[in-house]
Amino acid sequence: MHPLVSLALFAATATAAIPYQQYILAPSSRTVRPVSIFRQHGSLSSPNALLDATHGGDGLVLNAFNSSVTYDFGKNIGGWVNLDLSSASGSIGVTFSESSMWVSSEACDATADAGLDTPLVFNITQAGHYEAPSEKERGAFRYLTVVNLGTDKITLKDLWVHFTAMPHWDDDALRNYSGWFNSNDEQINRVWYAGAYTNQLVTIDPTRGDSLVSLGNVTDTTVNWALNTTITSGRSALTDGAKRDRLVWSGDMAIAVPGIAVTTFDFISIRNALDSLFALQAMSGQLPYAGFPFNERGLVSFTYHLYALIGVANFYLWSGDAAFRAAEWPAWKLGMEWATQQIDSTGLANVTSPNDWLRFGMGGHNIEANAILFYTLNLGVALARDEGDTATAANYTALANKIQAVAVPLLWQPTVGLFRDNETTTLAPQDGNAWAVKSGLVPASSSQLASISRALEARWGPYGAPAPEAADAISPFISGFELEAHFMAGRADTALALVRRMWGDFMLDDPRMTNSTFIEGYSVTGALHYAPYKNDARISHAHGWATGPTSALTTFVGGIQILTDAGATWAIVPQPGDLTRVDTGFSTPKGKFSSKWTRTNHTFTLSISTPKGTSGRVGIPLPGTHNSSLLTGAPGKAPTVVHGDSAGVYWVENVKGGNYVFVAAGL
Ligand SMILES: *[C@@H]1O[C@H](CO)[C@@H](O)[C@H](O)[C@H]1NC(C)=O
Ligand SMILES: *[C@@H]1O[C@H](CO)[C@@H](O)[C@H](O)[C@H]1NC(C)=O
Ligand SMILES: *[C@@H]1O[C@H](CO)[C@@H](O)[C@H](O)[C@H]1NC(C)=O
Ligand SMILES: *[C@@H]1O[C@H](CO)[C@@H](O)[C@H](O)[C@H]1NC(C)=O
Ligand SMILES: *[C@@H]1O[C@H](CO)[C@@H](O)[C@H](O)[C@H]1NC(C)=O
Ligand SMILES: *[C@@H]1O[C@H](CO)[C@@H](O)[C@H](O)[C@H]1NC(C)=O
Ligand SMILES: *[C@@H]1O[C@H](CO)[C@@H](O)[C@H](O)[C@H]1NC(C)=O
Ligand SMILES: *[C@@H]1O[C@H](CO)[C@@H](O)[C@H](O)[C@H]1NC(C)=O
Ligand SMILES: *[C@@H]1O[C@H](CO)[C@@H](O)[C@H](O)[C@H]1NC(C)=O
Ligand SMILES: *[C@@H]1O[C@H](CO)[C@@H](O)[C@H](O)[C@H]1NC(C)=O
Ligand SMILES: *[C@@H]1O[C@H](CO)[C@@H](O)[C@H](O)[C@H]1NC(C)=O
Repeated sequence: MHPLVSLALFAATATAAIPYQQYILAPSSRTVRPVSIFRQHGSLSSPNALLDATHGGDGLVLNAFNSSVTYDFGKNIGGWVNLDLSSASGSIGVTFSESSMWVSSEACDATADAGLDTPLVFNITQAGHYEAPSEKERGAFRYLTVVNLGTDKITLKDLWVHFTAMPHWDDDALRNYSGWFNSNDEQINRVWYAGAYTNQLVTIDPTRGDSLVSLGNVTDTTVNWALNTTITSGRSALTDGAKRDRLVWSGDMAIAVPGIAVTTFDFISIRNALDSLFALQAMSGQLPYAGFPFNERGLVSFTYHLYALIGVANFYLWSGDAAFRAAEWPAWKLGMEWATQQIDSTGLANVTSPNDWLRFGMGGHNIEANAILFYTLNLGVALARDEGDTATAANYTALANKIQAVAVPLLWQPTVGLFRDNETTTLAPQDGNAWAVKSGLVPASSSQLASISRALEARWGPYGAPAPEAADAISPFISGFELEAHFMAGRADTALALVRRMWGDFMLDDPRMTNSTFIEGYSVTGALHYAPYKNDARISHAHGWATGPTSALTTFVGGIQILTDAGATWAIVPQPGDLTRVDTGFSTPKGKFSSKWTRTNHTFTLSISTPKGTSGRVGIPLPGTHNSSLLTGAPGKAPTVVHGDSAGVYWVENVKGGNYVFVAAGL
């Protein structure tokens, strides 16, 4: 008895409402008040008077010097603090912290390499409204402490934050998502929405970038932060982190951009960020390690150079903006020329610029760098074909094939089941192995895929997947690529286990976290110490590069893959793992894409919707036990079985855009 796949068409149903709004963490208005009291100290009364639910009474009274209340907004937010005071004299201090670890009435958490940031001080000269000066926007904090710095009694009638992220969106439209995700696992749902929100929080007014006045100064222990530097043109910019760096980094965008595509589709902020990098391209084609003003340090990064090229390809893939592609193509080719000049007589790039995501040992015939180059060359092949530039497409294909032919035998360690970092070491990096899979350097048919997935999984500790190439580090950035590698190896259970362990149990639910945005990095011990940094208080708790699960869940668990410009061609291939139902989707300029499925041990029911005029293929995971030799009899189609540990997949080819239901019944 073989599994049966039946197919039905259903009529389109227009739904205007944004689905699953209860999970969206973005505020419904830019005026945000605290939701609870975290701590209080000294002589004071009525601290509840400033809470969102109860505000509007006589106000909080801080009776004496050093009386303080720490308010909790319940999630990470960012913006300008506003105070309404009924006292006419005195001095009040305000401090901020993303993590509960750095809550203090004397200092904020940190933005620089050493010390803590100074409090924001308001010297009171009359009763009334006080607001933070524009450069004293605080990019991210969950906790806000008000402290009486003088001896006069202070009465604070109201306190609110003017939320500043996503500055170009209407004040009441911050929850206007174009994408959604829901499953039977509540923690997974929260992870998806926290990733979406993290990418909103790191999208800032480009005139409020970090001045970097104190970055790199390890003797400055009283840092007076200033967000007063213009980093891109336009009204909004995608940056790395909300508290810091508040700068454009192309590497971070490799994770953030697909995440934005499946949630808010805020592509203008991506465009402004990419434009700022390409405006700094050198005559040689070389792109900066990061945007202004960091570029002034003159640092070169081979991998971040490639990530900027990937950024352009991603922008085109999701937007389908052919005018943008054509305009960028000459600069893109010039950039690729600089990159391919690093290829030596072996056919591999010999990396001589060590800067990367702050790992060590980025040099020589490095596996991560060569896998990213292989991947970028293949993106270039697609762009060149779209541009009708067949000579360049052939050139890039030849270079990519050579990298694959040389790197795999040179750097593969069969007894370990992982690639080594370069030919002078046995260290098996997380980044290079994840990228070897993500890039397709390891072909989909190779047993190396499952081997890498298993070996990476075997190294996990209680807090997640380690990155030995950065010493004692867990990198939510590189782990986002590892997640994709597990899915590509057909090991969805493993991928979901990593999402739960790292992003759910630790990065959301640990009490030191914000329960709303994802941290930049931490120690394998679970300490909030990130090996590349001297100053633990400096770690960002809202980093776009840590949002990998959001796009991975939609792309692999929902299974919706955009293959060419804005989804002109697509594939929908759900990988259920241990979930029993998923409903996800998003919109591109071509229209809405969705995948909704439920399964039992015996049936898999998949409803999909794709825009008219597009086409794709559908891969239906077969339920129950199956035996690939029995599938050959399935009606009318040639079934195939995907690699790895996964179950059989029944493929339906040449599906035209529209609405369909597929029901597969197993044994
Ligand atoms: C102010 O209060 C904090 C607790 O909020 C305490 O740690 C600190 O020592 C106090 N400072 C002074 C000068 O009393
Ligand atoms: C507040 O007053 C103190 C003492 O006069 C002064 O040192 C400080 O610069 C003032 N701060 C602000 C923000 O005006
Ligand atoms: C929400 O976004 C949609 C497009 O995704 C747009 O048509 C609509 O006007 C937006 N709503 C608001 C209130 O901005
Ligand atoms: C570092 O900070 C200290 C203390 O604020 C200051 O004296 C010094 O000039 C700063 N160094 C640099 C290089 O900016
Ligand atoms: C930003 O503010 C800092 C500290 O006040 C100051 O040193 C710097 O010159 C300012 N930068 C700009 C571009 O205004
Ligand atoms: C090769 O890899 C090892 C381990 O990461 C590293 O210590 C070494 O510096 C690398 N070699 C070069 C030339 O970067
Ligand atoms: C890479 O280039 C550097 C600088 O030219 C050279 O010293 C090094 O030996 C090269 N590495 C390899 C693996 O060829
Ligand atoms: C092909 O690649 C080589 C090496 O990067 C370069 O010199 C040449 O100009 C390229 N040719 C084309 C048609 O892009
Ligand atoms: C974390 O946030 C969720 C909502 O996203 C909430 O249901 C949960 O109670 C919060 N957890 C804690 C410990 O506050
Ligand atoms: C499949 O069967 C097992 C064993 O009877 C059961 O524990 C599990 O809940 C079932 N799964 C689904 C999705 O029904
Ligand atoms: C699959 O089915 C074929 C044909 O009935 C049979 O020969 C083979 O033993 C089956 N394989 C498994 C693993 O059940």
